[in-house]
Amino acid sequence: MNFSEKLIGWFEKNKRDLPWRKTKNPYFIWVSEIILQQTRVEQGLPYYKRFIKKFPTIKDLATAREDDVMKQWQGLGYYSRARNMHCTAKEICKSYKGKFPEKFEEILSLKGIGKYTASAISSFAFNLPFPVVDGNVQRVFARIFGISDSSGFAVAEKKFYSLGHKLLDKTNPGTFNQAIMEFGAIHCTPLLPKCNHCVFSGDCFALKTNRVKEFPSKKIKVKPRTRFFYYLIIKAGDSTFIKKRKGNDIWIDLYEFPLIESAKALSKNEILHSAQWKNFFGNISVKIISISKYQKHILSHQLINGQFWEVEMPSGTKIKQALKTFQLVKFTNLNKFPVSRMIEKYMVENGEGFTKNNRGK
Ligand code: ADE
Repeated sequence: MNFSEKLIGWFEKNKRDLPWRKTKNPYFIWVSEIILQQTRVEQGLPYYKRFIKKFPTIKDLATAREDDVMKQWQGLGYYSRARNMHCTAKEICKSYKGKFPEKFEEILSLKGIGKYTASAISSFAFNLPFPVVDGNVQRVFARIFGISDSSGFAVAEKKFYSLGHKLLDKTNPGTFNQAIMEFGAIHCTPLLPKCNHCVFSGDCFALKTNRVKEFPSKKIKVKPRTRFFYYLIIKAGDSTFIKKRKGNDIWIDLYEFPLIESAKALSKNEILHSAQWKNFFGNISVKIISISKYQKHILSHQLINGQFWEVEMPSGTKIKQALKTFQLVKFTNLNKFPVSRMIEKYMVENGEGFTKNNRGK
């Protein structure tokens, strides 16, 4: 048996039952692949189902409001994925009359679609012979063929792609690609690969040389940047202030409360005397209702420590310019806006007290 026969034989016996494997609809496949970048299958599955229910066609996605798209994505992280999909759906409507393009080069030219995703869509939906090479596939190839990236990531990546092209079952590229990814995801796993009953045990370089743990070679981790976010939940009657995050940073297009940010932890006094506090409140005497514990939120290269301050401005207070750039939103309507996981968590965990303290009468 050759490589592909062994692999597909294993896949037919062991594959998970996943909805995007039962469709040839390139739009659904695209949605699933974008969700599954940086997200585990178990976490991504409910998002996938909700997303295609809410936006069943490319046109539905293209014509949706940006906030509705972001709301569907809330909690998944890496929000530029959702923004790019929205933008690409509009582009497909404009340049391809709403029909997903069928050529690899066209698919690859779309915003937010790289080589991996273009290969996945074109092989799963159109059975085109392009190998997928993601982290799982790299680990499988690295172990079976003994590829290390000691000569540099780019060199190793070239080797992975050329192996992929060579091994790919050209009559059945879609199944081959699903199979190799599944094999990496559930059999040849990072920490506990099931080497004692493996279809490649007679072929595997790493197993034969007793070096499974050395493959793939480890990446050097960079120390994450630590940031402190102090969110001000300002009670103004039954409403509070929120604004869409802009700029070139995390959580773009998600809504948030007025924020005081610092690279180091600030004491209560430091916050009350900060320029940012003055900017929001001037010399108004603000009543502090509660200050939360720090909430840690880990992103790929950042560690965010969030603290929530629920405060109240005296009624009739003249609102300073800095707060005028925010929207006043009723507490009971807050859950309609897309927010970061950190803010969502705070709102859910403090649901009772949060609304009780802040609903106003
Ligand atoms: N990870 C990325 N794409 C996937 C797919 N199509 N099936 C399972 N896991 C995946």
